[in-house]
Amino acid sequence: MATAVTPATNGAFSPYAASIPGVEPETCAFDAFRLAVASKLTGPLNIPLEKAYEGVDIGKKGADFTVAVPRFRLGGKPDDWAKKVVDEFKADLWVESVTVDKAFVSFMVRTDTLVNKVLTQIHDLTYRTPSGKPEYGCNHSGKGKKVIIEYSSPNIAKEFHAGHLRSTILGAFLANIHRATGWDVMTINYLGDWGKQFGLVAVGFERYGSEEALKTDAVHHLYDVYVKINKDAETDEAVHDAAREFFKRMEDGDEAAVAQWKRFRDFSLERYKQSYDRLNVDFDVYGGESTVSQKAMQDVIQKMDEMGIIEEGKEKKEGARLINLEKWKLGSPVVQKTDGTSLYITRDIAGAIERHEKYHFDKMIYVAGAPQDMHFAQFFKVLDLMDFPWAKTLEHANFGSILGMSSRKGTAVSLDHILNEAQDTMHEQMKTNETKYANVDDPQKTADEIGMSAVKIQDMAGKRINNYTFNWSRMLSFEGDTGPYLQYAHARLCSVQRKTAQAGLVLPSDVSKINTDLLTEPGARVIVYLLASYPDVVRTAIKTYEPSGVVTYLFRLSHAISAAWETLVVMGQEEELAKARLWLFINARDVLGAGLRLLSLRPLEKM
Ligand code: ARG
Repeated sequence: MATAVTPATNGAFSPYAASIPGVEPETCAFDAFRLAVASKLTGPLNIPLEKAYEGVDIGKKGADFTVAVPRFRLGGKPDDWAKKVVDEFKADLWVESVTVDKAFVSFMVRTDTLVNKVLTQIHDLTYRTPSGKPEYGCNHSGKGKKVIIEYSSPNIAKEFHAGHLRSTILGAFLANIHRATGWDVMTINYLGDWGKQFGLVAVGFERYGSEEALKTDAVHHLYDVYVKINKDAETDEAVHDAAREFFKRMEDGDEAAVAQWKRFRDFSLERYKQSYDRLNVDFDVYGGESTVSQKAMQDVIQKMDEMGIIEEGKEKKEGARLINLEKWKLGSPVVQKTDGTSLYITRDIAGAIERHEKYHFDKMIYVAGAPQDMHFAQFFKVLDLMDFPWAKTLEHANFGSILGMSSRKGTAVSLDHILNEAQDTMHEQMKTNETKYANVDDPQKTADEIGMSAVKIQDMAGKRINNYTFNWSRMLSFEGDTGPYLQYAHARLCSVQRKTAQAGLVLPSDVSKINTDLLTEPGARVIVYLLASYPDVVRTAIKTYEPSGVVTYLFRLSHAISAAWETLVVMGQEEELAKARLWLFINARDVLGAGLRLLSLRPLEKM
């Protein structure tokens, strides 16, 4: 990682020399300032730097940083200690001033140092990284650890519903946030690609199938067939029998049946991949329920038997085998049916064991809706009872429902319908500004990206456990806190750079020649302070798994930028000043872009 800032010299406190686990001034300039603030506490309070550092919070009431002295439990009166900090305070290159309010001590850092360190760091970690990729906001907290993230996981031949959409969007975010914090990330799409529905589809395909349609759009075609044959099955028990028979053949490994199943799966997958590409989402492994081996499931049942965890079902569950989890209020899930076949939960138990043997993960996250809370709690508990120490590393990242996800006309629809409709609406909107429209290179693609941004930002704007109502007009608006607004904010920053370049204003390749001391306006400071807090936003997100923190941050940043257009004019200013302001905006664009990418959006340059 490039070192963004040179350490302070001549005997002064140097934040870059301090070494505290998890504190990374070389990736987070804010850490350097927090350390500098902490150094003002160690003497008067007689505490080590590490302890002092923990007490440095984001500032209250307009201050940069605030320390609540009582948290140190020093004995005596906190107010007296606070006063001692103020009395002994000496300003330096980093920290400029101090104020006290009872037991709260607040600090302001030096604007010139802040602006310079932060902008230089963003620049270096965007354009001068060994990986060649932007890294501002990233940290090393997950270094050396491996995580498996399983998400999206639709069921072939069934509907790709709102829950799958949320899992896809949230899962992509979780994968990105883990990559950004140094984890070795492996992503899996666990397809619902096994079960009696394939029997139904196979029977239905004989009646309603078209090879042509299968090849062009398997996802929709198979779903169509599935709906039709289900309708037939309502009045015709023979359809069910035929379906069961087909699935039995699949389970027994009958070549023709398996070959047909595989065709359905392959063509569906091909079609899904197009949608994932469109959504800027991908997977290292396309697995699925079908890939959990029979052997692994038998081994699981046998091991549970030996350990005495398994019980024989009674009454209604006569003949089935189950695990009694009543003690933990988790019910008694059946793990083996009367006819000996496996279930969803058995496949998950065996699948987790297989994955651990194969990939040795340090953590595995399943991204699935809250309706499956019980299912995950059950199978995590079973693995725990089976004495797998890694069972404790399994996590279920859950989320609430999307209510009313239907087309604008009100009919229930597939993912593609939703994305197409969002795209069309955005395209119409773009056409209303003819000059701008003429400038956009690929309007279709741009409209699609704005449409998807709308869908994604609406999805990630609230706490993930909350349900939300799919709202077309709010989501697609360019005003208010929407995806299109964020894309617009980014495109506008890009246009500043284009326009100034056309006017002959170009930044020096040696950015240290830019005079950042000229950025004295309060509006500039607000932006810089926000830019500096981006690494903190990433740190919070890896703890909470909440994309909403990032979304909120990006709105705040965009608002601060938009409020500064009139005070931080670039064009027509004296050259030094114009360059400094332009550089501020370019850094702001780069951070906004990084945040958007973290959320799986593709930042737009023109729209
Ligand atoms: N295919 C499932 C569904 O649509 C989701 C799979 C979740 N993951 C898992 N390992 N059970 O409901």
